[in-house]
Amino acid sequence: MGRMPTRVSARIGAISESATLAVDAKAKALKAAGRPVIGFGAGEPDFPTPGYIVEAAQRACAEPRFHKYTPAAGLPELRAAIAAKTARDSGYHVEPAQVLVTNGGKQAVYQTFATLLDPGDEVLVPAPYWTTYPEAIALAGGVPVVVPTDESTGYLASVEQLEAACTARTKLLVFVSPSNPTGAVYPPAQVKAIGEWAAAKGIWVVTDEIYEHLVYGDAKFSSIPVQAPEIADRCVVLNGVAKTYAMTGWRVGWMIGPKDVIKAAANYQSHATSNVANVSQMAALAAVSGDLSAVAEMRAAFDRRRKTIVRMLNEIPGVECPEPLGAFYAYPSVKGVLGKEIRGKRPQTSSELAALILEEAEVAVVPGEAFGTDGYFRLSYAMSDADLEEGVSRIGKLLSEAR
Ligand SMILES: Cc1ncc(COP(=O)(O)O)c(C=O)c1O
Repeated sequence: MGRMPTRVSARIGAISESATLAVDAKAKALKAAGRPVIGFGAGEPDFPTPGYIVEAAQRACAEPRFHKYTPAAGLPELRAAIAAKTARDSGYHVEPAQVLVTNGGKQAVYQTFATLLDPGDEVLVPAPYWTTYPEAIALAGGVPVVVPTDESTGYLASVEQLEAACTARTKLLVFVSPSNPTGAVYPPAQVKAIGEWAAAKGIWVVTDEIYEHLVYGDAKFSSIPVQAPEIADRCVVLNGVAKTYAMTGWRVGWMIGPKDVIKAAANYQSHATSNVANVSQMAALAAVSGDLSAVAEMRAAFDRRRKTIVRMLNEIPGVECPEPLGAFYAYPSVKGVLGKEIRGKRPQTSSELAALILEEAEVAVVPGEAFGTDGYFRLSYAMSDADLEEGVSRIGKLLSEAR
């Protein structure tokens, strides 16, 4: 007897909806239905794209050459500008041929795994991880191997933990600093140690630098192939304009890597999507060739909100929030509240607690299960100061009823 064909392939059928987008959509739907929901789910700046970037796009709209197909790997002037921007911002020197322009950072993530992984290859993924990595790895035939971290180390993975998770099948490590969802930033010495370790083991590193400009206080962003140049030949850097320039909707990201890998990924992209929309590429060109004053302004606002949210969360009994040093997320543990009774219910998991908070306090947070760790919430603080304070007070009021 042959196997019954399924309507949807096993590969695609195994993917779950992005939990962060789902929470955001649910909060927006409740809001549209007239309920005063405050959403901490969104992973995007609450600012509009700076005017000079929008104007560059408007000019590009009127240029007939941008109404046509352009090279699949990206406009040559944008690839060159990304190489120059990378040297300026992280000190990593690459040629334009090492840059591939993608439809947002997300396509860069998926395409990188598709380009590097063979079936059964293992990928070290420190948790809490961004919800897309394991799905993209599995789609590419790889096997995510989760390396758990917690608030006791500020969510940083050590070389010893990575070494312990390594097997003969380990092909690569996913390294993200500043981190989504925790906001953790690895100190330069630890970035160097991890890069040197990976190089010595012969493991590839895929490093996601999309939050490079969002670091606070004394924290310093550092790029792994700069700290450990010996990894450069087995390193792919992922980045994009979304978070730095408030351009999430424009869909421009990129991969930077060794030329053979970039060429292979570009071949793949030439069949999958072809060039990124030219108008968006021209907007991205204005963004990466301009200065960083817009992101400096956003950073100052995020930093103020970061301090408020961490203080307010830590005032709630049973909630513990280490100080996030980067990105725009707080990742508190709510383990001290689980199992207690709140309004006749006894939530046992962070998912159940998040559902109760949405129902009773009309506040949306993303439960830690979405990032591989039960017992936590992710709250984005890329929102107005007033909503932030109101939202966290509502959570505090509800959780103070826990018995
Ligand atoms: C860590 C990380 N990498 C990549 C991305 C992809 O961003 P985009 O596809 O909007 O460029 C995101 C967005 O949430 C992210 O948080």
